[in-house]
Amino acid sequence: MKFDVNEISGLIKEEVRRYKTQADVAKVGTVLEVGDGITRVYGLDNAMAGEMLEFDGGVVGEVFNLDEDSVGAVIYGDYTKVREGAGVRGTGKVLSVPVGEALLGRVVNALCEPIDGKGVIQSEQTRFVEFAAPGIAERQPVKEPLATGLKSVDAMVPIGRGQRELIIGDRKTGKTAIALDTIINQKGKDVVCIYVAIGQKESTVAEVVATLEAHGAMEHTIVVMAGASESSAMQFIAPYAGTAIGEYFMYDKKGHALCVYDDLSKHAIAYRELSLLLRRPPGREAYPGDIFYLHSRLLERASKLSDERGGGSLTSLPIIETLEGQVSAYIPTNIISITDGQIYLQRSLFLAGVRPAIDVGISVSRVGGNAQPKAMKKVAPKLRLDLAAFRELQDFARLGTELDEAAQKQLDRGYRMVEILKQKQFAPMSVAQEVISILAGSAGVLDDIDVHRVNHFMDELVSWMELEAPEYLEMIEQIGDIDENLMSGLKDAVEAYKTIYRFSFGA
Ligand SMILES: Nc1ncnc2c1ncn2[C@@H]1O[C@H](COP(=O)(O)OP(=O)(O)OP(=O)(O)O)[C@@H](O)[C@H]1O
Ligand SMILES: [Mg+2]
Repeated sequence: MKFDVNEISGLIKEEVRRYKTQADVAKVGTVLEVGDGITRVYGLDNAMAGEMLEFDGGVVGEVFNLDEDSVGAVIYGDYTKVREGAGVRGTGKVLSVPVGEALLGRVVNALCEPIDGKGVIQSEQTRFVEFAAPGIAERQPVKEPLATGLKSVDAMVPIGRGQRELIIGDRKTGKTAIALDTIINQKGKDVVCIYVAIGQKESTVAEVVATLEAHGAMEHTIVVMAGASESSAMQFIAPYAGTAIGEYFMYDKKGHALCVYDDLSKHAIAYRELSLLLRRPPGREAYPGDIFYLHSRLLERASKLSDERGGGSLTSLPIIETLEGQVSAYIPTNIISITDGQIYLQRSLFLAGVRPAIDVGISVSRVGGNAQPKAMKKVAPKLRLDLAAFRELQDFARLGTELDEAAQKQLDRGYRMVEILKQKQFAPMSVAQEVISILAGSAGVLDDIDVHRVNHFMDELVSWMELEAPEYLEMIEQIGDIDENLMSGLKDAVEAYKTIYRFSFGA
């Protein structure tokens, strides 16, 4: 066979030409320095802010700072595996995480990798951790209730599917407890729950998981954990990963999801750490200026989608820890202004045994009323205002002021209402049970029952109703409303039970 030199050299030239056009050298950079979960990369000329990076060895990261001759990036996962001089590839995409039903019942890290030792998660779908919130045309007003099973919340600060309701309070005031009860109460209600634990002790989160398991709530729940021992980067990305999981159920499954961020104070601290490490200038209270934008972008992703978009919803329950009740500090005020209301938990109430320790004076739900079942609206129309007035009156009474008869009556009613609204943990109530409890208090049926007996009376009343008059409960549950007839029937039933109670317990 005869070789044609020209042909061969032509072929080689062509190969070389093609090779040049295929290789994208600009997208490969080198790690200049690395530490504390952040890195400086040289050579990624075309990098975009927020672009996902892949380091040699498979660790992923994200572009944060675009400097003149280098790129500042955060590393998600084990940054000790990233060495100086290692190669970095820009992917041209935003970071995405696996999502889907396969995650149900699992505990995952901020990249949605399993950390519960229950094996790999077989999920085919992925979603971007950063995703634009739906626009106004794609939304509709909140209209279905997201029952928490807590009398005080459902009656006074009702939450609707698609709402963002902040849970705020000092340390150890029962913030997590409200979120957990809400998750437990979603059992059998077609709401997938995502609990995002940010910067918490691993042992605390293990307790949360055990609690959810014990109450059969892990089946509809996914726990995303970036514990205190994890890097700031992982703590920073965790709420976005959790939201991406929720969005899968809202957009792709046209269903309902609830996302709890416990808590965003620690998230803000993680972001502050990252920013300072990346030498971004500190702003107010040393938080970077864009923390407000960051949190609003996160919470705006909660939504009730329009019917054209499938009608799914994503409800957000962000949690914020305050210091000494300082709701006017920088991060708390930011989040209060972004959300649709807040449940403020007060330490003094908590210590006095009023649990959940909701301060009715400054707790509010701005949109949830729309979603509140009619029955609840009818029995608790002014409950929040009445209780707030009661608290003021109570302060007066403490000063030893002489009260007139009407005020004394209001005070007596208030004491009983406070007792009725107390609720043990992990004992969520159905709407019907809540309605009957509130009705008994607001209709004044309990005025002649000893204050210390009220709680016991209510427990007994509810059990008695379930046994002797279940049709009332069923009617409220099914119709979601009560008419005059039902209302007076209920009042009579409660009155009737009072006699039985006196007889049985001698009160
Ligand atoms: N309704 C309740 N009845 C009785 N105990 C409660 C109630 N709510 C919370 N607790 C208890 O109070 C303690 C603190 O509750 P929780 O952990 O929910 O508070 P927190 O505000 O989330 O605390 P942290 O600041 O540590 O996150 C827990 O031991 C919890 O069991
Ligand atoms: Mg907590």
